[in-house]
Amino acid sequence: MVLYEVKNYEEMSRKAAAVIAAQVVLKPDAVLGLATGSTPLGAYEQLVKWHQKKEVDFSGISSVNLDEYKGLGGDNRQSYRYFMDTNLFQHINIEKSRTFVPDGLEPDSVKACRAYDEVIEKLGGIDLQILGIGANGHIGFNEPGESFEKGTHCVDLAESTIQANARFFQSLDEVPRQAYTMGMKGILSARKILLLAAGEPKADALYQALCGPVTPQLPASILQLHRDVAVIADQGACARLHGQGAASYFLRR
Ligand code: GLP
Repeated sequence: MVLYEVKNYEEMSRKAAAVIAAQVVLKPDAVLGLATGSTPLGAYEQLVKWHQKKEVDFSGISSVNLDEYKGLGGDNRQSYRYFMDTNLFQHINIEKSRTFVPDGLEPDSVKACRAYDEVIEKLGGIDLQILGIGANGHIGFNEPGESFEKGTHCVDLAESTIQANARFFQSLDEVPRQAYTMGMKGILSARKILLLAAGEPKADALYQALCGPVTPQLPASILQLHRDVAVIADQGACARLHGQGAASYFLRR
């Protein structure tokens, strides 16, 4: 695991976009594992800009997203499918039929999740998985306390996650209570992982993920077991690592 500490969100976004673009250049038919949330948004904006300048070609790329709210369809503005379409896919030349997000409208959880694992398998696995981190250490929607060995599955969202994500909805009541998420098994089988973190609210989770024990109580800690993880985090998110003198152990500037 290597940590690249950067000054701020903008620098994190540019570096993250560079890593994604490099993956696309090196393997034009790569499978990208994509994430939603405010964290990767700046990287997606940068990729769109580079694409508009004809510097990155996504025509051979496939993508699989980490998660989707159960009960929301792609035309719902709060769905992760809508987020990906409007923030990235509509602005680059990726083939829409090769962009995959769990089917939030499939009421049968077992069916929805099995279908998604089959998609990932048929694509031959993920070349580069982008991850944000929840303030409670969740990745995708793998909440604290879940077992590590699951494939795609249906989760009950933690109260803190519902609260954190309420900012995107009109009211707290509108936030779905369940989601389909790729499990740790799927995430760990990605060949490379890029974890992004910005801002002090992520400092504790990032510290626990990198330096704490590997435990389902802090889902991101499992990344310690993967052999190719790069972390790009800004100064705010690294605050606790510095406090503990731990950053130097991982750091490359
Ligand atoms: C959401 C998503 C995660 C994301 C996390 C952090 O719940 N399911 O994939 O990493 O929250 O979000 P943000 O980047 O907005 O802080």
